[in-house]
Amino acid sequence: MIDLHCHLAYGIDDGPQTPDESLALALALSKAGVTHVACTSHIRRDKDWVNDQSAQSQMHDNLDKALGSAGPKRFRGAEHYIDELLVETCQNKQAVPYGDSDWLLVELPYSAEPPNLMRTLYAIREAGYKLLLAHIERYPYIYRYPEKLEALVNAGHRIQVNLGSLAGAYGPEYQNAAQYLLQDDYVYVLAGDCHHENHVQTYIIDGLQAARTLIDEETLKQLTLRNPARILGLQL
Ligand SMILES: [Fe+2]
Repeated sequence: MIDLHCHLAYGIDDGPQTPDESLALALALSKAGVTHVACTSHIRRDKDWVNDQSAQSQMHDNLDKALGSAGPKRFRGAEHYIDELLVETCQNKQAVPYGDSDWLLVELPYSAEPPNLMRTLYAIREAGYKLLLAHIERYPYIYRYPEKLEALVNAGHRIQVNLGSLAGAYGPEYQNAAQYLLQDDYVYVLAGDCHHENHVQTYIIDGLQAARTLIDEETLKQLTLRNPARILGLQL
């Protein structure tokens, strides 16, 4: 599996806080079959979580020292929270696309649709990026409205769902939403969103098992291997 959503780096956000915690998570990911991982720590100014371009060298140097070649092969990335500054971050080239690609992982608020959502997403594309929308099963103001899902996909955005949601890790409502999105072919990428080694069992292993009850093995490969590879620009 290629995991495009993981909080592997330490001391940045609500993921690992020490080198040892990052190492434990990396080893658990490998054991679960993850061969490549994008380090998508949050960029959220309201929480002082900074993983923009200015933080990348230090963060990856730290990970190189803590992990060496242990764990999955690591790629750059970030989970960009949509706020009033994100378009500016993109225009100033401080956003962190996946690897050498022009794809960004973008997170929306859980509770309510941000004002001018489609316009903001369009502005990010205008700044030169393609968008993978993080765990869309956690945004009721979108998944309850098929016309909004269609509008997002038709605008060229792609949808990521957390495997953990399929396993029920965030409760039955998000589980139902994830199942519906998967069965109705809205999902482009299934990912782990692990913040701690203890998450790997539910967020990846149980999640993959749950996915297998809903889709065939080829589709699962598409969503956990081929589509993530396409975003990272990897030849498989
Ligand atoms: Fe995340």
